[in-house]
Amino acid sequence: MTPSWVFFLASAGIISEVTSQGFKPWNPLGNLGHLGGGNRPPPPEPKDIPPPIPPPGFPLKNLLKISEILDPRKAGGDILSDFKDFHKKQKKLGRKEWQNKTKQFCHRFPGHPSCRKGKFPDQKELEEMIGQFSKGGIGKFLKKVPKIHIEDPLARVDPKLKQLLDNAGREFGHLNTEFVSKIKDICKRKKCKEQPESAKKLRELFTQKLTDFETKFAGKDKSDTVQLRFDRTLQIKEALLEKGNLTADVAPVDNGVFDLDTMLTEEQANILLNELNKAGEGSDEIPLPETDSDDEDGSETNSTGKSRARKSALYFEGNLIKKWDPSSPIQYVLDDSLEALDKNDVRAAIYEIEKNTCIRFKELASPPSGSHIVYYKVDSPTFCGLSYVGRAEPANPVYLSFGCENNKGVAIHETMHALGVAHQHLRNDRDQFITINWSNIDPQQYDAFVVVDSKLYTSYGVKYAYDSIMHYNGYTAAQNIAIPTMNPKVNSAANLKVLGQRQKMGSTDIELLKKMYCQPGCEDKNVYCGAWALKDLCKDPGHDQYMAANCKKSCNLCFAG
Ligand SMILES: *[C@@H]1O[C@H](CO)[C@@H](O)[C@H](O)[C@H]1NC(C)=O
Ligand SMILES: *[C@@H]1O[C@H](CO)[C@@H](O)[C@H](O)[C@H]1NC(C)=O
Ligand SMILES: *[C@@H]1O[C@H](CO)[C@@H](O)[C@H](O)[C@H]1NC(C)=O
Ligand SMILES: *[C@@H]1O[C@H](CO)[C@@H](O)[C@H](O)[C@H]1NC(C)=O
Repeated sequence: MTPSWVFFLASAGIISEVTSQGFKPWNPLGNLGHLGGGNRPPPPEPKDIPPPIPPPGFPLKNLLKISEILDPRKAGGDILSDFKDFHKKQKKLGRKEWQNKTKQFCHRFPGHPSCRKGKFPDQKELEEMIGQFSKGGIGKFLKKVPKIHIEDPLARVDPKLKQLLDNAGREFGHLNTEFVSKIKDICKRKKCKEQPESAKKLRELFTQKLTDFETKFAGKDKSDTVQLRFDRTLQIKEALLEKGNLTADVAPVDNGVFDLDTMLTEEQANILLNELNKAGEGSDEIPLPETDSDDEDGSETNSTGKSRARKSALYFEGNLIKKWDPSSPIQYVLDDSLEALDKNDVRAAIYEIEKNTCIRFKELASPPSGSHIVYYKVDSPTFCGLSYVGRAEPANPVYLSFGCENNKGVAIHETMHALGVAHQHLRNDRDQFITINWSNIDPQQYDAFVVVDSKLYTSYGVKYAYDSIMHYNGYTAAQNIAIPTMNPKVNSAANLKVLGQRQKMGSTDIELLKKMYCQPGCEDKNVYCGAWALKDLCKDPGHDQYMAANCKKSCNLCFAG
């Protein structure tokens, strides 16, 4: 039997059940996409932020011009929103403060030509500075992307096995020319380079939330590292488009978020940028002349100790999609922002994971010192949930709006991200199961359709499932919200209704979590074991010996307990 046939049978039972739930396609804000998946009521129109108030001390004529340029809709990017804030808030701006502010700017964008000169840019230069961002992307202005040694998991593998991977072994960001031309066509009809106001607001919101979260742990201001991470996220989105020669056509949304509902750690971002050949891009920081502010750099790219640690840490079972220690309960805190009903939704989500797997959680009243999850409620119509994928340092915040159709299901989805599970529709084998309508995607949210880096994620041989709680609905990030962006290849009409279900964990979601956490001592030695297992190589006479020796987990060969 082919995998899709097996899947067809497996999913048949679910279809009728889910159909009766009446999932409806829905796309928030037309083009902001679907954060956290699931279905929910349309949000109110985002309100515009008030225009900046010119600070005294600047010639008004010049200033008006600057604030025009700072308008994200005109600048083609909102990366300078902090400068806009500065215009808005800082009423009295002397030379010192101006310098302070530009120093912050150059700390964040050390590669900017004006910063490279080693002096403070003046107001005129500010105009030039901003103009630069709308061209060639953000990458060359940021701090250098550290070079990371990424071992090729296929280096010592029989070339035949490598061949058998087909699409599963494609490089990260691979983009087919046919899809590229479809995306280009969309952008002939629609503007693909303007930042939606909603994206900018989302970035600001989560910059604040994450900064608060991390500053509390660190005991010092972490806004720089949060900004860098969000800048890196944009850099990745730009690099992905560059792979398809789409740089001139599309500016990705700069909302701080990757794949619509996940955040990247700095390390993950650096790995992906290395995979996209951006290692070394950017600039070393150039010390600027005096100011009184301290300039301690919390984030660090150049300790040799660190790069060595990275080198050895980067491989599969111990790779950067960090798992949790399954031998003790995962500690979590329900922040006070959650109301009683919200808390029950999260507890119900956690209970569902516990009930179905060996994973155990422990609720605490306040954050412990080690790894843990903190659930926050964030009242925003523009998302359902947001999480890191895998365990993050110092802890994992999970943000939930509790404004979507099934709060418990969204909480399960985001918690599974925190446990290290990626989106179902971004699996390397997804093209066998769904057809992406490249003519209907929002090009600015292209990252929502990029399959995961095959060196980082494995299926462990668990089959693709339309009813996975980690799948997005079929109308995600659509141009025309009445037409799907993802069409199931099997039993299309019925399965389209299943996509994005948030009623409960699918059986494959449970199977995957069990493989990840409930088989201590059972290991795959290669990240591609899952893909090979799905090609039935565990029992293939030519490869069964290799598989038995190297792919125990994916081949289900550890059933002692
Ligand atoms: C400069 O900026 C830092 C950090 O934002 C702030 O703490 C300091 O007070 C500022 N100094 C002046 C003179 O504005
Ligand atoms: C991008 O352009 C390069 C050089 O012109 C070409 O080799 C490559 O195939 C293009 N990629 C895509 C996905 O169109
Ligand atoms: C990075 O580290 C190397 C080796 O320790 C050193 O030579 C180099 O100057 C450092 N670069 C920066 C930008 O600190
Ligand atoms: C794909 O999207 C385009 C544009 O919205 C639409 O015209 C076309 O019918 C869609 N194709 C399928 C198979 O849904």
